[in-house]
Amino acid sequence: VEVPWVSIEMLPQYVGKKVEIRGWLANKRSSGKIAFLILRDGTGFLQATAFAGEHFDSEEVKNLKRIPLESSLIVQGRVKEEKRAIGGYELELEKVEIISEAEDYPIQKKEHSIEFLMENRHLWLRSRKQNAILRVRNQVIMAIHHFFQERGFTLIDPPILTPAACEGTTTLFALDYFDLGKAYLSQSGQLYMEAACMAFGKVYCLAPTFRAEKSKTRRHLTEFWMVEPEVAFYNWEDNMELQEEFVSFVVQTVLEKCPRELEVLERDLKPLERVVPPFPRISYDEALRILNRKGFRIEWGNDFGGDEETAISEEFDRPVFIHHYPKKVKAFYMQPDPENPELVLNDDLIAPEGYGEIIGGSERIHDLNLLKERIKEHHLPEEVFDWYLDLRRFGSCPHSGFGLGVERTVAWICGIHHIREAIPFPRQIYRLYP
Ligand code: 4AD
Ligand code: MG
Repeated sequence: VEVPWVSIEMLPQYVGKKVEIRGWLANKRSSGKIAFLILRDGTGFLQATAFAGEHFDSEEVKNLKRIPLESSLIVQGRVKEEKRAIGGYELELEKVEIISEAEDYPIQKKEHSIEFLMENRHLWLRSRKQNAILRVRNQVIMAIHHFFQERGFTLIDPPILTPAACEGTTTLFALDYFDLGKAYLSQSGQLYMEAACMAFGKVYCLAPTFRAEKSKTRRHLTEFWMVEPEVAFYNWEDNMELQEEFVSFVVQTVLEKCPRELEVLERDLKPLERVVPPFPRISYDEALRILNRKGFRIEWGNDFGGDEETAISEEFDRPVFIHHYPKKVKAFYMQPDPENPELVLNDDLIAPEGYGEIIGGSERIHDLNLLKERIKEHHLPEEVFDWYLDLRRFGSCPHSGFGLGVERTVAWICGIHHIREAIPFPRQIYRLYP
């Protein structure tokens, strides 16, 4: 009879049955006459045991103990429940085939420096914690698509090579573009989503974005993924409602789909379970009062940094919106507050537990002349924005949208310290390898 090739995560369905596992030797130990091989196949980790008897002689068991770590293997055996083993199951080996014997594996159990691990990111991905983080990321991305597709949004892909800045000229990556001069890697798909929402109503993109961030913090990458919805006829308050429903959906989906991953990460689930609407909403002015009460000295009109965001998040038990920022610290396209044109109809969503801003969003300027004025004030070249101004010439309407950073969200949900582990191959100011 054919022995079925199954994944480790499917083993609960095969208790008492004979199965085949194809994977790698993640760890091993021996105790007396028994060889304990810890296998991984990408979906989980599994203890497999072999002892001298019906299936192996004692020489063969000795050889199994000598298999180098990270060798690739195809094994067969019978599945049984074993509470004490990793994952709760065990394979009683009957057959072991070595596909490729590994050289000395550089990543050992001992503590390695973060530099060493980053240099070996292509191998580090195999570790249990990294596996858990990137499986959570996978579910976050699936949840993003699920949420917007269920609500009638159309996925529209923005270009990555662009002629102009969206989020300020200081973080642009420039490159030579044939006879057309400079091109820039996209900082945000937003301007294209604005065009698309006038064609499709409700749209979103999920795409890589690039910022030449000179700051070396635990929250910044130079290449990160952003999901950016944009909705015609939404105002800034509709926009915040969409955001709180969206973020809650993503978090609750991960709680449902990734219990084992969150356990590997030793994530405290309580703060995640509280992530349900409505989220508290405070104005920039109120945020400033909280900060001053907590001993910060910030003048009105300054932006908040990571420390300020952390201090504000401590006051709330779930993500908090800060709205109505001073226009001078925000992007050129934000709609001014009709009651005070020094403020804009925007919001930043601050994650709990010190993870900082995960969303930036706003209502957009829909008046042609006001937008032209802003482009001038920001010293942006009007020619390359002519198509964008067209959106205000042909059937303009109030519209709003936001951008959520995928890696900051994954880092928060996983409870990891640094954003670099929330993306498979991070790009940072000092890192371009592997
Ligand atoms: O606040 P930002 O700059 O907003 C925009 O780009 C808007 N155009 C979005 C929109 O309205 N369509 O960036 C949005 C989010 C941030 O809240 C943060 O989560 C993430 O993108 N982000 C970064 N993530 C990692 N590394 C960086 N350097 C990031 N810069 C922004
Ligand atoms: Mg922002």
